[in-house]
Amino acid sequence: MRKSLLQPLPKFTAAIGLALAAVNVQAADRDAGAKIYSAQCASCHGADAKSPTDPSYPILAGQYADYLAIALVKYQSGERRNAIMAALAKPLSRRDIQNISAYLQSLDGPLSHRR
Ligand code: HEC
Repeated sequence: MRKSLLQPLPKFTAAIGLALAAVNVQAADRDAGAKIYSAQCASCHGADAKSPTDPSYPILAGQYADYLAIALVKYQSGERRNAIMAALAKPLSRRDIQNISAYLQSLDGPLSHRR
């Protein structure tokens, strides 16, 4: 994990440290993430995660898993405020977040770097 990038940002370390610690424990299960995504998230962010049903819904396909996981943890904690995403993020476990984030990172999208 790119932990070193986060170290100069002490304000973030508590929440993010927790998220990353959980995220590092086991390999992510992308299929499990895909199931949650298509059931609970695709209606707004798009079936392919890059064709959102409204321009205010961000593209998620190809985004870094760390970024997505941190965003979801911050919606849960209230550090990032959005009524819609707070309600959707709340019931997710850390493992769900890890799996969804890994799945989304694996998708091709306009946010991807060619790897
Ligand atoms: C009802 C529509 C809707 C649904 C369903 C929805 N989202 Fe969102 N999502 C949004 C909106 C709107 C935003 C932008 C919120 C903001 O301004 O912070 C967002 C933002 C996000 C972000 C932050 C993206 C970024 O680039 O910062 C992530 C990650 C995310 N959603 C993941 C999910 C996941 C995972 C699910 C399913 C569990 C989900 N969303 C379901 C509407 C939705």
